[in-house]
Amino acid sequence: MRSGLGPTPGGRVLDLGCGAGHELVQLELDGMRAYGVDASATMLAASRVRLRSMGHPVRLVRADAQRLPFTDGWFDGCRIERVLQHVADPAAVLAEVHRILRPGGVIGILEPDWASLTLASRDGEAARAVADQVGGHIPHRDIGRHLRRLLAHAGFDEVHIEVELMVYSSVEELSRIVSLEHVTNLARAVGRIGHSRATALLNEQHSLSATGAFHATLNRSALAWARRP
Ligand SMILES: C[S@@+](CC[C@H](N)C(=O)[O-])C[C@H]1O[C@@H](n2cnc3c(N)ncnc32)[C@H](O)[C@@H]1O
Repeated sequence: MRSGLGPTPGGRVLDLGCGAGHELVQLELDGMRAYGVDASATMLAASRVRLRSMGHPVRLVRADAQRLPFTDGWFDGCRIERVLQHVADPAAVLAEVHRILRPGGVIGILEPDWASLTLASRDGEAARAVADQVGGHIPHRDIGRHLRRLLAHAGFDEVHIEVELMVYSSVEELSRIVSLEHVTNLARAVGRIGHSRATALLNEQHSLSATGAFHATLNRSALAWARRP
């Protein structure tokens, strides 16, 4: 993300949905003038503490990413990490970023694709039903696969996409990101699979895991860069 963004040192860079401010600090260390926007006062407070404790300037604004309080062309760069999946209208956010970037300004986005989980099973239908529950509470759980379209429609060009494919070889490894028990219970609760099929799937997956034969994949993140013409 950092190397792809690469605006000139001293440039104004917005971290949209900055959370607790880790990347704001990094942007400052990289010689940028970092600005943070977040909808959450709690997150902004954490960012403020982090920036002050490191002796960096505090440039934080509480705002909705879909309506940014900045004038046209104000920023040289903008980064968005794990935010678009949560907003009501990702296209509206990108339209705003297009507006506040100067011509030639760069946008970097990193978002997951929770809908991309695959589980190898003899019962492929049950495995699909379980995988479909991952990130079910997230408004845009598959946003990672839509970045090129969203960026193109917002008027960006020079779009470059990279996908980080994760391969998990045990239930335990997968559990750092997805609880198999939890998503199987959800698939059962919404009536996609019955109790005995759910139990059989879990038993199969744990047995595969114990014998070194478990296989699951996930496009954990899509990283996109693009330029405002
Ligand atoms: C998963 S956190 C990611 C934080 C940070 N970008 C990171 O990668 O560590 C999502 C952040 O987006 C913020 N957020 C969610 N919806 C938003 C919106 N509509 N406008 C601005 N910020 C929003 C949340 O408050 C939260 O801080």
